[in-house]
Amino acid sequence: MGEYILAIDQGTTSSRAIVFNKDQSIAGVSQKEFTQHFPKSGWVEHDLEDIWEGVVEVCHTAMKNAKIDASDIAAIGITNQRETVAMWDKKTGKPVHKAIVWQDRRTADMCDDLKKAGHEQTFTKKTGLLLDPYFSATKVAWMLDHVRGLRKKAENGSVLFGTIDSFLIWRLTGGDRHVTDATNAARTMMFNIRTHKWDTKLLEILNIPAAILPEVLDCQADFGTAHADILGADIPIYGVAGDQQAATIGQACFEPGMFKSTYGTGCFALLNTGTDAVTSKNRLLTTIAYRLDGKTTYALEGSIFMAGASVQWLRDGLQIIDEANASGKLAAEADPEQEVYLVPAFVGLGAPHWDADARGAMFGLTRATTAKEISKATLEAVCYQTADLLNAMQKDWKGAKAAKTTLRVDGGMAMSDWTMQRLSDLLNAPVDRPMVLETTALGVAWLAGSRAGIWPNQKGFAKTWKRDQRFKPKMKEAERTRKLAGWKDAVARTLTVR
Ligand code: G3P
Repeated sequence: MGEYILAIDQGTTSSRAIVFNKDQSIAGVSQKEFTQHFPKSGWVEHDLEDIWEGVVEVCHTAMKNAKIDASDIAAIGITNQRETVAMWDKKTGKPVHKAIVWQDRRTADMCDDLKKAGHEQTFTKKTGLLLDPYFSATKVAWMLDHVRGLRKKAENGSVLFGTIDSFLIWRLTGGDRHVTDATNAARTMMFNIRTHKWDTKLLEILNIPAAILPEVLDCQADFGTAHADILGADIPIYGVAGDQQAATIGQACFEPGMFKSTYGTGCFALLNTGTDAVTSKNRLLTTIAYRLDGKTTYALEGSIFMAGASVQWLRDGLQIIDEANASGKLAAEADPEQEVYLVPAFVGLGAPHWDADARGAMFGLTRATTAKEISKATLEAVCYQTADLLNAMQKDWKGAKAAKTTLRVDGGMAMSDWTMQRLSDLLNAPVDRPMVLETTALGVAWLAGSRAGIWPNQKGFAKTWKRDQRFKPKMKEAERTRKLAGWKDAVARTLTVR
């Protein structure tokens, strides 16, 4: 049997494959971007054939880069952009529509109607989510309503629905398995996170036939065998998790009170709440962190839409930096006397405000304001928003206060020392950056590798987590309080719903 693990990370803008050695180091990587389709304002779609071809290609290239054959791979782990909806014909395997991406807002009116009809509580109670177009359910309903003949086919079971993991597994196994894992199911807004069943009441409200839904397995399970004619050898798929949950696993946030934050395009923070499915009073999401051996660990999740994307705006929109990592250097040179705030509501605000109509604003500009202060305000905005999430989490769950919160960070922005120091200052908590920043892929590689018996068990894996650097709070309390109050005021002035 092989001793390498292949992790597939199918993300929103690119697909990646990473081959891990037995000692968890990386042997080979490959990444490919794919086209984003924006057929109308607020609509975002992906071509599923594009995704499929890209995934197969990066798997082959990663193995080539690692100088191994498919027969050297012991198992596959899959992680993916969550919530995105795929539907395909059960017989032909052909997609019936482009995938509707999590960012797509076409079902905003449908969500409003469901709210008006008094259904929000029912959805939130059962799924832990908010009635928002972000999640899969209303997108599935939209497809059934808008693709000619689809509803009939769905009712007689000849089309299948899945999140991207499910679609990839179906293709990799040559149509043998229609399955998903508990973390991906938890993001569909059709899955009851307490009973672990597709919820008949919710399906009835949405008029979605249960026949199209995949079987839900633990994150570590037998998801079927990827066929030799696709990757070059028959390889079992042993691990699956949505990308933010995979990062939580990869960061070894296995104890209640542990908290990770991934800074990619947006930022997704997850706090492990153990066996408590904590209901948020502050508009955070209750979600499944992972399900192992039938035992569920829950998390509170906060999503910020603009993190790395605001730095891209500095680079491509304002053009005040040439490359993203210049932002920290510029921020470090800013005049400390100037208090400039940027509320990056470019596409509305996510948790804990969920104000879709808010738009970005800047406060505190003077004649002395330069690119340096704007750069600093942009990076600080990401830190302030993380502080808001942590604050909401602490209000929602007493365990968060009790546990000495240390934030484990990953994603592109975690590379910026200036930003991570500022984050620690504004959170008033230590921020730990790990040695391995590929935490998402590592998370599913561990799921697959430990099931294959060649990686350590959960405890052993947690011990292998290594810190690259700890950032400790250095800011004086009075300064932190003043800055946080200024941010609160800036947000209040930006919100459209008060
Ligand atoms: O919920 C959406 C999230 O899973 C997307 O992550 O990294 O593909 O942008 P990413």
